[in-house]
Amino acid sequence: MKIDVFTLFPQWFSWFFEQRHVRNALRLGHDLRLFNYRDTTPLSHGQVDDAPYGGGAGMVIRVDVVDAALEAVYGRERSSPRGRTVVLTPAGRTFDDEVAGELTALERLTLLCGRYEGIDERVREHLADDAISIGRYVLSGGELAAMVIADAVMRKLPGALGSSDSALEESFSPALEGGPEYPHFTRPASYRGWEVPQVLLSGDHERVQRWRLERSSARRPG
Ligand code: 6GU
Repeated sequence: MKIDVFTLFPQWFSWFFEQRHVRNALRLGHDLRLFNYRDTTPLSHGQVDDAPYGGGAGMVIRVDVVDAALEAVYGRERSSPRGRTVVLTPAGRTFDDEVAGELTALERLTLLCGRYEGIDERVREHLADDAISIGRYVLSGGELAAMVIADAVMRKLPGALGSSDSALEESFSPALEGGPEYPHFTRPASYRGWEVPQVLLSGDHERVQRWRLERSSARRPG
């Protein structure tokens, strides 16, 4: 899988690249590339944003700047097979495990980070296929959202996690019928009088499995 991120702050991602599952994914042949809108802006003095039409606070990233950045990387032919271009905005559809699974199945994913007050709406209308938010709150830019999405997507890639089935039976997976994950326990079995549930020490895999499913659905909100 190839993930491309367009941003004004590529340095935000250096910590992300140090993470083991990210390095594992890259070693397996996946790709995560960063592009700075400022490097390809057609405007002078590295300008990338402008005041909003109609007035109001803040600045908006210009559509011609985003278009030039995409053209510099992909050329005029944008419709790459099995890829998707996503604007990151609090006004997008909400990201969850299902959307993560949808994106993991793509061969190419392009994430467009906004900054300041946002990105000119014509990016969403004409240059992107999708708009995603990671939750109902406002971040100062799309960079953290891009890392959240890249993390959730890359850990689903086969081989990205240490153990191949770690991602199969985790929170919200079909194996848990979309419920949150069951609770985990490890040694010591007793600590300050706080006991690990007896069933987990029983060695009876069927009982353990039944208990886990029960605890998963008991945690389901609503
Ligand atoms: Cl994708 N961007 C920004 N700026 N804020 C957000 C968001 C995205 N998702 C939730 N809040």
